Amino acid sequence: MGQIRLAWFLFLCLLGHEGLAKGVLGLACNWGLQSTHPLPPNIVVRLLKDNGFNKVKLFEADTGALKALGRSGIQVMVGIPNDMLASLASAVGNAEAWVQQNVSYYISTHGTDIRSVAIGNEPFLHSYKDMFVRTTLPALENIQAALIKAGLGKQVKVTIPLNADVYQTDSGLPSGGNFRPELLYLMTKIIKFLQDNGGFITINIYPFLSLQADPSFPKEYAFFNNTASPLVDGSIVYTNVYDANFDTLISALEKNGFGRMPIVVGEVGWPTDGDPNGNIDNAKRFNQALISRIIQGQGSPKRRTPPDVYIFSLLDEDHKSTLPGNFERHWGIFKYDGSVKYPLDMGNGRALVPAKGVKYLAKQWCVMSPSASSSDPNKFAQSITYACENADCTSLGYGSSCGNLDAQSNASYAFNSYFQTMNQSKEACSFNNLATITNVDPSKPPCRFEIMIDTRKQKAARTPFKSSASKMEGIFAALVVVLGLVICGVH
Ligand SMILES: *[C@@H]1O[C@H](CO)[C@@H](O)[C@H](O)[C@H]1NC(C)=O
Ligand SMILES: *[C@@H]1O[C@H](CO)[C@@H](O)[C@H](O)[C@H]1NC(C)=O
Ligand SMILES: *[C@@H]1O[C@H](CO)[C@@H](O)[C@H](O)[C@H]1NC(C)=O
Ligand SMILES: *[C@@H]1O[C@H](CO)[C@@H](O)[C@H](O)[C@H]1NC(C)=O
Repeated sequence: MGQIRLAWFLFLCLLGHEGLAKGVLGLACNWGLQSTHPLPPNIVVRLLKDNGFNKVKLFEADTGALKALGRSGIQVMVGIPNDMLASLASAVGNAEAWVQQNVSYYISTHGTDIRSVAIGNEPFLHSYKDMFVRTTLPALENIQAALIKAGLGKQVKVTIPLNADVYQTDSGLPSGGNFRPELLYLMTKIIKFLQDNGGFITINIYPFLSLQADPSFPKEYAFFNNTASPLVDGSIVYTNVYDANFDTLISALEKNGFGRMPIVVGEVGWPTDGDPNGNIDNAKRFNQALISRIIQGQGSPKRRTPPDVYIFSLLDEDHKSTLPGNFERHWGIFKYDGSVKYPLDMGNGRALVPAKGVKYLAKQWCVMSPSASSSDPNKFAQSITYACENADCTSLGYGSSCGNLDAQSNASYAFNSYFQTMNQSKEACSFNNLATITNVDPSKPPCRFEIMIDTRKQKAARTPFKSSASKMEGIFAALVVVLGLVICGVH
């Protein structure tokens, strides 16, 4: 009796420990690569593991990422960019080549745990017009056929990440949800295909964009702990737009006979800069509540079983298009270098762990030269424009972290951004003698003048995959087992 109880206790103890070490909590996130200086993949994989992420979504079959994820214990959803859809739709042979080179190869050679393929990325987005409407389903069918031919039909599922604008509600209530009329027939065919092949729907939901796009949107309703402005839909009271949006999809599915279709939330998050609503406080508030919901296994009012939720995003990306807005480069829960932006409780009081082993360029900045203030204002403006066209100035806008700088610091920020992006080359800090290099940090909180990471040094000094921390955990686990055996032996 005592022995059994002890063994059980030890089992639970080990299980609990394993759970912590391997992130069984099941957090998932997006890993985007649109950076001028991407963090080395092995550092990112360690960052994922250290923070309890056991699922990751890639937007493309990036070699470095897929290799680094090999035998990491992290499950991978690998994306296919929209611009490849036409070719994949045109011939099943193209899909077979894609699966062979971008899925089968990594599974068999690198032990990468690829679980799903995301075909296209929001291909039916309103603003794309009908550009991908004809190619998405044939590409999906061809990839599915290729997966089956490769013997991966069961192991690797297919999906299409959709923007929430594929559905709408005429009544303004989730219960009125249905697919956009012009997409209804196509969506029905796609969902039927996904269902028949064990696939799932992936939906991206952005409360931030709802708030950002509409000045009359009730701000509290964008967050999770709102009590101010609930939406009453029959017997259901919606306190946040995320649940309401999700359940609008559930209604759309139910209306078309797919009420049990599995759903994954492919993107959801909140940016920290580049917009008056994109700031640290709002991002922390939204993402903390989101993570708590995920950890508690909370679903929506209409579907209590929680979906997998991929947080958008892991890291800031300084090379993303700013067409939707300056906030596009600031979705990360970590900065471009894997450093922590704001504290988050990742479950059981676990704090965010920053990236380890990141190498930086020298501690120097490029700023406006003190002697330059009286120079030609035209030349000046041209230099700033040039710097900002070739580097990231998205923190300089109205309501952003560097939006309150005076004209001189503003110029310095632009010059430094360019200088860092150009790997601190001396020529990149000239600007017709308007700029100079300094060792004094010009940052003016909350505005930070960054130093770029050194991707070259990084390659030279590869950090070993097994960390000292996980070694310590291993030793600890061994001790627990030995202790357990001793105790069990005594009884
Ligand atoms: C994937 O496979 C195709 C072959 O069809 C290849 O052209 C492509 O470069 C591979 N990689 C990515 C990232 O798609
Ligand atoms: C909701 O979030 C705001 C902002 O973070 C916070 O000040 C407030 O205390 C929270 N309210 C509840 C009920 O959690
Ligand atoms: C700072 O630079 C940005 C980017 O060029 C520009 O849009 C903004 O007007 C400048 N602000 C000031 C105060 O000079
Ligand atoms: C900066 O350095 C990295 C690593 O050597 C290199 O890949 C990249 O192209 C460089 N960028 C520029 C703008 O020179």
